[in-house]
Order: sequence, then C-alpha cells, then structure tokens
Amino acid sequence: MSEFSQPQLTVLFDTGQIQARIRELGAAITRDYAGQSPLLVVVLKGAVPFGADLVRAIDLPVTLDFIAVSSYGMATKSSGEVRLLKDLDTSLRGQPVIIVEDIVDTGLTLSYLLDMFRRREAASVRVAALLDKPERRQREVEVSYVGFTIPNEFVVGFGLDYAERYRNLPYVAILDPAAVTEG
Ligand code: PRP
Ligand code: MN
Ligand code: MG
Repeated sequence: MSEFSQPQLTVLFDTGQIQARIRELGAAITRDYAGQSPLLVVVLKGAVPFGADLVRAIDLPVTLDFIAVSSYGMATKSSGEVRLLKDLDTSLRGQPVIIVEDIVDTGLTLSYLLDMFRRREAASVRVAALLDKPERRQREVEVSYVGFTIPNEFVVGFGLDYAERYRNLPYVAILDPAAVTEG
C-alpha cells in the first residue's frame, strides 16, 4: 500500500493548504522583521519540513541553526521531561531569534527552549509553529506565528511522527493508532 494513503490516516490539512499558510506566515515575518536578520532555530526533528518551507517564504537575510530536543520518545503522550540532544552551533547573544516548531502541545518543549534562549541573552525570541493544540497546554507560551489551531487529536505528517514514522507525509493527518499496521 502507498505510504501516502492509508486507512488509519484522515487528512486534516492538505499540501496546498499548508503551502498557502506558510506563504502567509513568511510574509508576516518578512514585514515584522524588516531591516533585521533573524536567526531561525529549527527544532529537530519534527520542524524540519515546516522550517525548510518557511525559510524560503521569508524575504530577509535570515540565518539558520538547529537544536534537537525530545519529550515524547516513542510514545504518543509527552513524558513531561525535555532532554537536550543537540545544542546550537552559534551564539544567541544580541540576536533576534525565531524558534520554528511543527507543533505546540503541552508547551513543555517551548518553555524549556524559551527559558534557555533568554538566559543566553538573545535580543528577542519569538515562536513560529505550524500547528497549535491549545487544549493540551500545561505551560503558557506565546506563539507569535501559528499555522493552524487544531483540536485534541493525535496528528502526524509534515514532520510529525508516531514512533518516528509518517514524518514524510506531504500533508497533516489525524492518526487512528488502533489501525496502525506494522511495516
Ligand atoms: C514533538 C514536537 C514538538 C513537541 C511538542 O517533538 O515536534 O517539538 O513534541 O510537544 P510539547 O508542546 O508537549 O512539548 P518530539 O519530542 O516528539 O521530538 P521530534 O520532533 O523529534 O519528533
Ligand atoms: Mn519536536
Ligand atoms: Mg516526536
């Protein structure tokens, strides 16, 4: 069966909707950061597809860096503990920083990163997230650029995984875990 169309997946946002929304977010960032050169920090691994498209929708001299944190491991629920797996290559001191995330769920990952980046004396720190699931929030975090606000469903695709799978789907889908097959 095709990886891109399976019975356990219900499309929530298709490729066209996602690309149109990313163009709008890129235009908003381009306006808000006019005259500046923001550093985009893409949070590995989930934010890679969104980050790759978002940087190309921003008409400014941006720079890019990557950080890897993990809260979920192989589970569908957050463990409540954020681990730093790979740090940035560059200093944040005096830089306008935009954290790029695929999804804000409990907010634990972002509150961890926001605290750390403020301690490192970034000039400013804002967040761009493709998806926001406010019903699950445990930490209050401000997300300046939201692609789509979603209900409390387990979603995969466009970077989001279930046990590391489905990150390559070119759309966002609701996953029915009971219907997942091996392979
Ligand atoms: C997921 C997602 C966000 C975070 C959101 O990452 O990509 O980074 O969880 O959840 P939270 O708001 O409850 O912290 P995950 O830890 O699964 O790592 P991954 O990006 O490598 O899949
Ligand atoms: Mn992630
Ligand atoms: Mg994950």
